[in-house]
Amino acid sequence: MSSKVTLDKIIAFCKRRGFVYQSADIYGGLNGVYEFGHLGFLVKNNIRNAWRKSISNNDKGDVLFLEGALLGPRAVWEASGHVDCFHDPMVDCLNCKHRFRADHINLEKSCPDCGQKNWTEVRQFNMMFKTQLGASSESASEAYLRPETAQAIFTNFKNVMSTNRVKIPFGIAQIGKAFRNEINPKQFLFRMREFEQMEIEWFCKKENSNVFFDFWQNRRLNFFKNLGITPEKLRLRPHEQDELAHYSTKCSDVEYEFPFGWQELEGIAHRGNYDLSQHTKHSGKELSVFDDTTKESYIPDVVECSVGVDRLFLTLLFDSYTEDEIDGETRTVLKLAPSVAPIKAAILPLTKKQLEQSEKIFKNLKNIETNIMFDVSGSIGKRYRRQDEIGTPVCFTYDFDSDNDNAVTARDRDTTKQERISIDKIADYMLEKLK
Ligand code: GAP
Repeated sequence: MSSKVTLDKIIAFCKRRGFVYQSADIYGGLNGVYEFGHLGFLVKNNIRNAWRKSISNNDKGDVLFLEGALLGPRAVWEASGHVDCFHDPMVDCLNCKHRFRADHINLEKSCPDCGQKNWTEVRQFNMMFKTQLGASSESASEAYLRPETAQAIFTNFKNVMSTNRVKIPFGIAQIGKAFRNEINPKQFLFRMREFEQMEIEWFCKKENSNVFFDFWQNRRLNFFKNLGITPEKLRLRPHEQDELAHYSTKCSDVEYEFPFGWQELEGIAHRGNYDLSQHTKHSGKELSVFDDTTKESYIPDVVECSVGVDRLFLTLLFDSYTEDEIDGETRTVLKLAPSVAPIKAAILPLTKKQLEQSEKIFKNLKNIETNIMFDVSGSIGKRYRRQDEIGTPVCFTYDFDSDNDNAVTARDRDTTKQERISIDKIADYMLEKLK
């Protein structure tokens, strides 16, 4: 038996097991803003590590990392085109006063909330959060919270190149927060106002840019497959001309089939030399590179891969959340790949009489892998269910026979199959399971 996973189930699950909390919950919450508890934090860290490894480990060129600022002066966002172009169309229902993204509803039909048809004109709404630096009210002190991490990569392009002795092609990558004043934050972590992006800008010569676009497209699709996401629920979808962002000439999305339809998980964009050219023009600083072979300077092209950590987190939950039946009882199990599972193994003494011996095993394993859990409370069945629910790949139970045979019972999360493992082999067994 396996019942359908829904958004409501995932939201309830995240709250129940402390993966995700609504921000400022005790004050009624802040719409589109979330906070991550212990297990959520661990999963996000695993996601970041997997991404970092996968983009660095390519045979095409170096990848350097950057930690840019969250605030950027107006000049940056004018140059990037975000002040003029980073808009979403907005419409209000004059009857119930609810506000919608005009491209997310059918304006020929009635309001989905009140059933009346009484729309305002469609207006453009800039999605950047604006703020003022210091006490001055001059426009020169206007700053914006970044709506994408990418711009700090472009404005630091020359700094990074000159301090790292790298040659084109190479990438600059960044993981960090981005902010968008979404008209309708919705579907939980799918569309948030404060979220985290993992972006790589790949700098290359124009003549190689299409080859690199294909290279990164395939590589990024495979990244998600390697994270254990169901391949049939992943696809690449090239953008139509009228969908392209103001900076891109070509774009493909890696899409996932969510319960609310196929949606973007990651965008792979051919940004041409739009950003570096714009920043050259607006800052007056030369951002070209010198080609030793042709003895000419040129502004490199950019292929960008951009994915939200939170959106990927949500995707992994949808993809791994399973309800099955074991011995006539429904269990929830998170079939996460071991690399992203928050807790890697649990040590469970069958009764409190085995505390001392099992604590010894726990401490030894902790030296090898930090995220190990020790659980002594409740029946063994309940403790297995608790671990299954948070995706722990393997549990080791110290039982009544353990003192005699110097072994424990290892139980697999997905199959629930149990086998006897000698205590001195536990670490190897666990590491094998985590591969
Ligand atoms: N620098 C390019 C860029 O920002 P994007 O398609 O607007 O492109 C890239 O965003 C990725 O960031 C998306 O594929 C998605 O994973 C994530 N993302 C964008 N807006 C988001 C939001 N409001 N909430 C959560 N994730 C978001």
